[in-house]
Amino acid sequence: MSIYQTHMTDVLVVGAGLAGERIAVEAASQGQDVIILSLVPPRRSHSTAAQGGMQASLGNCAMGEGDNPDVHFADTVKGSDWGCDQEVARLFVETAPVAVREMAVWGVPWSRVVAGQRTLPDGRVIEEKKEKEGLITARDFGGTAKWRTCYTADGTGHTLQYTMDSMVIKMGITVHDRTEAISLIHDGEQCIGVVARCLRTGDLRVYIAKTTVICTGGYGRLYSASTNAVINEGNGMFVALNTGVVPLGNMEAVQFHPTGMVPVWILITEGARGDGGYLLDKNLDRFMPDYEPKKKELASRDVVSRRMTQHMRKGLGVDSPYGPHLWLDIRHLGAEHINTNLREIANIARNFAGVDPVKDLIPVRPTQHYSMGGVRTNKDGAAYGLRGLFAAGEAACWDLHGFNRLGGNSLAETITAGRIIGKKVAEYTKDATINYNYQLVDDAVKEQENRIKALVNGWHGKENVYEIRNEMEKNLMDYVGIFRNGKDLQKAVDNLREVYHRSLKIGLRSNGEGPNPELAQALRMPGMVRLALCIAYGALMRTESRGSHAREDYPKRDDTNWLKRTLAYWPEGADLPELKYEPVKITELPPGDRGYGESSAESQGGKNG
Ligand code: FUM
Repeated sequence: MSIYQTHMTDVLVVGAGLAGERIAVEAASQGQDVIILSLVPPRRSHSTAAQGGMQASLGNCAMGEGDNPDVHFADTVKGSDWGCDQEVARLFVETAPVAVREMAVWGVPWSRVVAGQRTLPDGRVIEEKKEKEGLITARDFGGTAKWRTCYTADGTGHTLQYTMDSMVIKMGITVHDRTEAISLIHDGEQCIGVVARCLRTGDLRVYIAKTTVICTGGYGRLYSASTNAVINEGNGMFVALNTGVVPLGNMEAVQFHPTGMVPVWILITEGARGDGGYLLDKNLDRFMPDYEPKKKELASRDVVSRRMTQHMRKGLGVDSPYGPHLWLDIRHLGAEHINTNLREIANIARNFAGVDPVKDLIPVRPTQHYSMGGVRTNKDGAAYGLRGLFAAGEAACWDLHGFNRLGGNSLAETITAGRIIGKKVAEYTKDATINYNYQLVDDAVKEQENRIKALVNGWHGKENVYEIRNEMEKNLMDYVGIFRNGKDLQKAVDNLREVYHRSLKIGLRSNGEGPNPELAQALRMPGMVRLALCIAYGALMRTESRGSHAREDYPKRDDTNWLKRTLAYWPEGADLPELKYEPVKITELPPGDRGYGESSAESQGGKNG
């Protein structure tokens, strides 16, 4: 019999970013016991790294006039390249304005409308109305018909997370940080909690809950160049996948942000272009208007990232020891604007690239940024496959974003979905009972204990976990990037399959005692490679281009055959996911032209297309 600490609660939230904390607040406010697990102290969650803002159709600023949920809905669906769930998109756009105002009440210092006339960098003169003075303002972001992205300078994630975490503290919600959920406890029908590992001591613990909610963020760090924090390794997604009964949705839909800063890949917000910044090539030519005459630098992210890559492929990138890059120019916005509204990225550029954006250009290149795929849920946030399991935020495929998420819709999703799904979690938990089965729990712990013993003693082999990780990252980066083709994707799948088998034969170099990061990595590694295979294999099988999934050998969107969502399962003993598909619901806006992007720019005579 194993000895371990056991914690019982009504709701167990795995992940203390914005989505997780918002759900915790909702459940706790309805009188339920909540425990949050987090790899890091909540204020170090990756939500904090969000910069430019969150979309909500308040329509307060001059350039947002006439905005409403219908306009936001249309932008979101077009952005997703008709891949999103329109019922979810409708729910989201109607709730986002409430969520943003609620955060104001809780303490977020939103940037506000200042009345008066001003001239935009492109020469347009706008008048902010006196009667709107002091209301929450918004900036421009990619793929939107109106200025809709509400912000606090360029530290929006920071202010939202600190405010939300203050609510968690105020409500006395229990947080166990430095604690990693390493497997779900389930009987194939119901999830009753997790086995977790304390990252301070290395001890295993059990958490039993009526409802378990996965809010662990994305998997960006499966790629070698990502704007994501080091904690974004897809943990919640692979513990769900490992059950064999919970599918992941649309894992092939991977977003590259146009402006990761070279060579450290930290995000430089889209707000920099929203506020009037330009992209320049090695000749200091502003090239985006040639490709995208209408939206220029502010087409949706998938489009801008492809245009930048195309341009560099023509030899127009700037050579550097880290490969070619382009420039982001915000000098014309002026020192005052940069040092106030864009102060975080200004400091990031100064501290991490040694350039001062007030007078220098910022080196940028499209960089992995967001996971549209994740634990597939219904519109209430309930995961497919297991009762008592929910998911929200980037860890989930709710599916608000389809094949391309609009900038600002992720931060908005965290608190909006957190609000909506939090209510559903509380509702479910109120009537839920746990079918507690001691043997099931003990077996789940033993399974993890045996894995640890095997790794420490090298029972299955002596493969080096860090070499395996590098191979995985390189295969995704080289073969499953912005542009994809069948030959490369097949190579990625073949290589990753081999990497997967090696990941089952890892043996530690260290003794595995205590917190031991090598052991933590080794425990995650097979799950991470499974996710990598879901991405690569899903991309290989999807023979069309849609949003961020751009196949050079199938360059057109194919609504006849591919208006469907991929569901990836991992059957026991498999070395490839099993893929199934479900139709994408079109409830309001039938597939059409996005108004930007390849087909549209060509019809508008873009000369570089
Ligand atoms: O560019 C940004 O500020 C990022 C925003 C987002 O990913 O939504």
